[in-house]
Amino acid sequence: MKIILVAGARPNFMKIAPIIQAIKKHNRQHQTSIRWQLVHTGQHYDDEMSKIFFKDLEIPEPDIYLGVDSGTHSQQTARVMVEFEKVLFREKPDLVIVVGDVNSTLAAALAAAKLHIRLAHVEAGLRSYDRRMPEEINRVLTDALSDYLFTHSPDADKNLKKEGISKGKIFFVGNVMIDTLLKLKTKSQKSKILRKLNLRREAYALLTLHRPSNVDHKENFLKILKALKEISKRIPIIFPVHPRTRRNIKRFKLNKFFKNISLIEPLGYLDFLKLMISSKFAMTDSGGMQEETTVLNIPCLTLRDTTERPITTREGTNILVGNDTVKIIKEAEKILDGKRKKGVYPALWDGNAASRIISVLKGVRSQHLTKF
Ligand code: UD1
Repeated sequence: MKIILVAGARPNFMKIAPIIQAIKKHNRQHQTSIRWQLVHTGQHYDDEMSKIFFKDLEIPEPDIYLGVDSGTHSQQTARVMVEFEKVLFREKPDLVIVVGDVNSTLAAALAAAKLHIRLAHVEAGLRSYDRRMPEEINRVLTDALSDYLFTHSPDADKNLKKEGISKGKIFFVGNVMIDTLLKLKTKSQKSKILRKLNLRREAYALLTLHRPSNVDHKENFLKILKALKEISKRIPIIFPVHPRTRRNIKRFKLNKFFKNISLIEPLGYLDFLKLMISSKFAMTDSGGMQEETTVLNIPCLTLRDTTERPITTREGTNILVGNDTVKIIKEAEKILDGKRKKGVYPALWDGNAASRIISVLKGVRSQHLTKF
């Protein structure tokens, strides 16, 4: 069997890493080996958005780099499709694996499905039911095209069944991103980031912010910044800044709001994990951090009105606060006053999701895979 794995943007890398490790483990333990290649689309290309993750997560160099770069959604999606189709014609894989919900995910899925190549989607079934998020469109369409839908929560299974996807295609395997977190948690303790930034454990809050709905509109961005300004009077805020956000801070001339907030460059996986584990609480609009804080039992205020990961609010430490200035301040103060939300650990977020995926896929003989 020959598999092509596709990754393109930062949140893909921590999901692809454990799958590669599970394939390698399978090949060491079995006589029949799974052949695989890694394709990097190049959606994220800065060293600190891409290269450092390959090093920290011990992902091998990509076999193929498409170099698609930034652009509008259609430009980026179309460029990945055109370049990835050439790879598919040349390499003739039996199966393509895509992860997450970024533009590269949908583009690769479309190219594979149009050539009748079997498609597996890891982290299937997540829904925010907010079509203004580009990721939501990517999720719905990728799931509609996939033959194997690997889910990380019972919510996701329910969402897929509601959309008419047959039960036989859905496999509840757990959370691959948490595979990575559990594997690297101990190693991250060696990071020197706290010393470098002169921070003490639980004496700061961690912030990330990059969703277009929050940072591309000045009014929405301002509502959040007003809350952050208040919160930073009680606790320092550390803010690794995404390139999109940095550009908009400059464009909207918002520098004056960051007096008590430390803006730093985006961090690699190990430094960031150490920073998250040691924080008093996190504020974010990222999808992945909602899950990571739940597993780490760190309170998380999500700066969005909806979440495609409701298990983190129901069972975990996550609270949705949107961009509502008053609500953000109120929930942060509760945490600072010792009234934090406690959570439980979601089922199958146990470090073995990728092995479950490979167990499902290895049962599928290659002649059953290729449709063309
Ligand atoms: C993408 C994903 C989002 C994910 C996020 C994590 C989509 C639709 N969105 O959003 O789901 O949460 O990645 O980071 O796929 N840029 C750089 N260097 C880079 C990459 C981007 O400077 O290495 C700048 C460019 O100016 C680019 C902008 O950031 O235009 C946005 O990049 P893009 O990949 O389009 O979307 P993200 O906002 O990163």
